[in-house]
Amino acid sequence: MSISSVDFEHIRKLLYEKTSMILPDNKVYFVESRLTPIANSEKLNSVSQLIAQLRANPWNDLHKRAIEALITTETFFFRDYYPFEALRKFILPELINKRKIDSSLNIWSSACSSGQEPYSIAILLQEHFPQINSWNVSIIASDISEEMLKLSRIGNYNHNQVNRGLSVYLRNKYFQQQGNKWQIIPEISRRVQFQQLNLCKIWNNLPKMDLIFLRNVLIYFDIKNKRNVLFQVRQLLKPDGYLFLGGGETTVNIDDNFEYVKFEKAICYRLRSK
Ligand SMILES: C[S@@+](CC[C@H](N)C(=O)[O-])C[C@H]1O[C@@H](n2cnc3c(N)ncnc32)[C@H](O)[C@@H]1O
Repeated sequence: MSISSVDFEHIRKLLYEKTSMILPDNKVYFVESRLTPIANSEKLNSVSQLIAQLRANPWNDLHKRAIEALITTETFFFRDYYPFEALRKFILPELINKRKIDSSLNIWSSACSSGQEPYSIAILLQEHFPQINSWNVSIIASDISEEMLKLSRIGNYNHNQVNRGLSVYLRNKYFQQQGNKWQIIPEISRRVQFQQLNLCKIWNNLPKMDLIFLRNVLIYFDIKNKRNVLFQVRQLLKPDGYLFLGGGETTVNIDDNFEYVKFEKAICYRLRSK
């Protein structure tokens, strides 16, 4: 049985209030398929019954589970390949040269999902820039989802996950096989600090960043929240730092204080000089 438009509206509002993510009109089937397992586990006959419970009660664990189920968390190691090539070939050599005196680099993976993005950055640093192992390199990874942060911290991936984006060489070097799972090695996991952060709220206590990864998350926000997030990025990014967005995302016509930079096939952004 399909959910009513009133139920759909309720879910849409709940998701927006908690995460600022927008659910387009054509996502009725998506809502049903994501919420069906929760309805089943609660021994409810339908998703409509589940939504009735959500509507009848104040915020509780069921609401939290429903929100977690509706968040899109698709990710993989070295996603899109070219941004990581740009980092390796151009951006990190440039930043390492500029930061020699301070011997410090701050990197933020701001919607890290299950951890593949910040771990890819940490692996890339270890693999290609061992000369900065003695530096003060901070890789902060954040997400709104507690579930995703839990998975990120555990760093235990199945075959499909390690086979998406990782070469066999990198998999064997940076993961230990444990039965049918692969555990990220402590030398990599200890370089990443995870924390919960809602991008659409005020960001506190983050250091000025050399690199910000804000990939495949702006796409879910409305224009007001996209502008707010990019405004805060501008306050946090160092004047010569770089911002990476997802392949389908841009700052163009949203915030003109960024300029577009191309490194071979990779596109990233930096602050326009005043
Ligand atoms: C599609 S994943 C992208 C993961 C990774 N950045 C990548 O490109 O592979 C989107 C992530 O954004 C997170 N997210 C959604 N809304 C958020 C918000 N308001 N604040 C912080 N993270 C959010 C989700 O929990 C999810 O893990």
